[in-house]
Amino acid sequence: MITFRMNNLTVQAEPGSTILETARFYGLKIPTLCFHEGLTSWGGCRLCVVEIGEGTRAKLVSSCTYPVEEGLVVRTDTKRVWAARRMMIELMLAMAPGSKVLQDLASEFGVTRVRFKPKNEECILCGLCVRMCAEQMDAKAIGFQNRGHQRKIATPFNIKNPECRLCGGCIYICPACQLRCQGPQAETTLCNACLTMAPTCLDHYDDLQCWMYDNGQCGTCVREKSAAGKIAETTAASHHEPKVR
Ligand code: SF4
Ligand code: SF4
Ligand code: FES
Repeated sequence: MITFRMNNLTVQAEPGSTILETARFYGLKIPTLCFHEGLTSWGGCRLCVVEIGEGTRAKLVSSCTYPVEEGLVVRTDTKRVWAARRMMIELMLAMAPGSKVLQDLASEFGVTRVRFKPKNEECILCGLCVRMCAEQMDAKAIGFQNRGHQRKIATPFNIKNPECRLCGGCIYICPACQLRCQGPQAETTLCNACLTMAPTCLDHYDDLQCWMYDNGQCGTCVREKSAAGKIAETTAASHHEPKVR
């Protein structure tokens, strides 16, 4: 066992464990976003940062990827840690201001304003969908594309990938695209825009490709309307006319 200090407690963990795993074992709360117990850790969102070391050598590390070490000194709740987490929440909110997950985090961490220009991309590049698709669905149908500010999630060549099993796992796990979601039925899986507006993409549900364009538009809607030559109308109307039932 490895022995180290965490928040002035002496703790022990199996070799190869991460700081996050140890903290959770001891009931210490560390927020996470790009971490999921069923997937490999990636360390992309930096929300789980903690401070390690002491004095001028103290530094912030991602607790979901940092392995425990003998004699390590960890602090999970310092001013520096909170400031870093607040900054990450601000940055991610600018990317996906509609995310309920991020809004809840902002509330929890007292983030009351976003100083960055909103991008409304509805994707915070957490990579959860990519890992879910590759590791749980064994499909590798989606992945990261481009670099820097053009980085996005997409299928190869931006066309429907036959490797996709239409399982919806990528939608289910996404913390940013809250509008589509959480259920096995088409009516609860598709986004509200499609459910409450007309025309809907419910007819094409079986053809659903579970990823979004980098402007946050539903891939299914855009593809179908594009195929029908109606993409310009759709964009101009910013989705659809209210459906009359
Ligand atoms: S729906 Fe397709 S892209 Fe999404 S996780 Fe399943 S296989 Fe991957
Ligand atoms: S689409 Fe969702 S799950 Fe995938 S990287 Fe973006 S925010 Fe993360
Ligand atoms: S949860 Fe650790 S970096 Fe995202």
